[in-house]
Amino acid sequence: MAEKLQAPRGTFDVLPEEGRRRAVLRDSVELLLDRAGYGPFESPVFEDTELFARGVGESTDIVQKEMFTFEDKAGRSLTLRPEGTAGACRAYVEHGMHKLPQPVKLRYWGPFFRHEAPQAGRFRQFTQIGAEALGSDDPSLDAELILLLAEILKRAGINCRLRLSSLGNADTRVAYNEELRAFLRSRESMLAEEVRERIDTNPLRAFDADHAGTKATMTEAPRLVDRLDPDDAEHFDEVKALLDEAGCAYELDPTLVRGLDYYTRTVFEFESPDLGAQSGVGGGGRYDGLVEQLGGPPTSGVGWAAGIERMLLAGTGEAGAAAPVFIAIAKPERSRDALALARALWLNGVHAQMEQAGRSMKGQMKHADRVGAEWTVILGDAVEVKRMETGEQREVAGLDEAVEAVTP
Ligand code: HAM
Repeated sequence: MAEKLQAPRGTFDVLPEEGRRRAVLRDSVELLLDRAGYGPFESPVFEDTELFARGVGESTDIVQKEMFTFEDKAGRSLTLRPEGTAGACRAYVEHGMHKLPQPVKLRYWGPFFRHEAPQAGRFRQFTQIGAEALGSDDPSLDAELILLLAEILKRAGINCRLRLSSLGNADTRVAYNEELRAFLRSRESMLAEEVRERIDTNPLRAFDADHAGTKATMTEAPRLVDRLDPDDAEHFDEVKALLDEAGCAYELDPTLVRGLDYYTRTVFEFESPDLGAQSGVGGGGRYDGLVEQLGGPPTSGVGWAAGIERMLLAGTGEAGAAAPVFIAIAKPERSRDALALARALWLNGVHAQMEQAGRSMKGQMKHADRVGAEWTVILGDAVEVKRMETGEQREVAGLDEAVEAVTP
């Protein structure tokens, strides 16, 4: 026998039962985002490597360690997208979307790729649902996006907390990073090696470290939220007020660090205690400089993405398959009628399956139970319909009458 092949490390197949849960989740999320004006958006799963290097940031883990990068036949460097915001901003510039009425609201669902060590809730190919609003810095957009994600996670039955912070603007960050670097240098001996190595490139990551000495040191570190410009502080106050008004609970967390460099002002993350180490279900924030960084006009933006696999791991979302009608064939000469009946039911909006594996009559009735049939139509000398829950069975005049009898 030939050697068996397996899906690559960190990837998975979606079999129909799980696929149904995903489809139900996708439908409910997309319906909600559509109501709020977020239109469907798709972009390629691979892009020029440059997009992510510039967009996500050279010093991030994503760009330094986690990208699936390859050369095409013409020697261009391409990368499987590790996230969706950079691609959305690239498309905004490429299609001149700044000329459309603002804000432009996009939603997406699709595969993303990060070369991380696989573990529960962490894959190399995973699925994100995301929403982005480009072209306005109105704080109601930050609040609306957070409220939409909160509602989506609630509907999916996920128990989670919301961490919220503000990173201010690029200038504030530069000045703050200098202050933080000086602080970190003054206590270098207390810090983890990994943090020491990044004092120059990414001092903010010190807040993210698991190392005990680093953690203790960071409780005394200066905080960016205390250094915000008046405009940014006012913007953040308005976002918080809108969330308060909507009754949305959040925890202010000045140590919140997101693994992407493009954020300005609002940042947030929803975390679920039911997920273990990979507790982030969804997160995002404002990125007012990103479009310009990618060659477009100065443009504000805000958005989030949530991981579908983590949502389904943490949630109680139920499979939404409707109970089908099962068509049993008591006489082989009626098998053509069975397909005709199945088709009539499908066109009538009814889920229907017919016998297709040569089972005995007893086997067919067992199978009807197994697929969770609500009704079984039995095609023999006569046409009979059986209500599976009660066992009640009666003869009907023909196929049309069977359709009528089992259609809700
Ligand atoms: P992110 O926090 O890097 O943000 O990813 C969003 C979500 O994707 C995470 O909360 C997690 O649920 C899921 N996720 C990330 N990596 C993996 C993985 N290896 N395996 C399974 N799930 C994963 C972003 O990607 C930003 N683009 C969000 C954003 C949109 N910010 C502004 N707009």
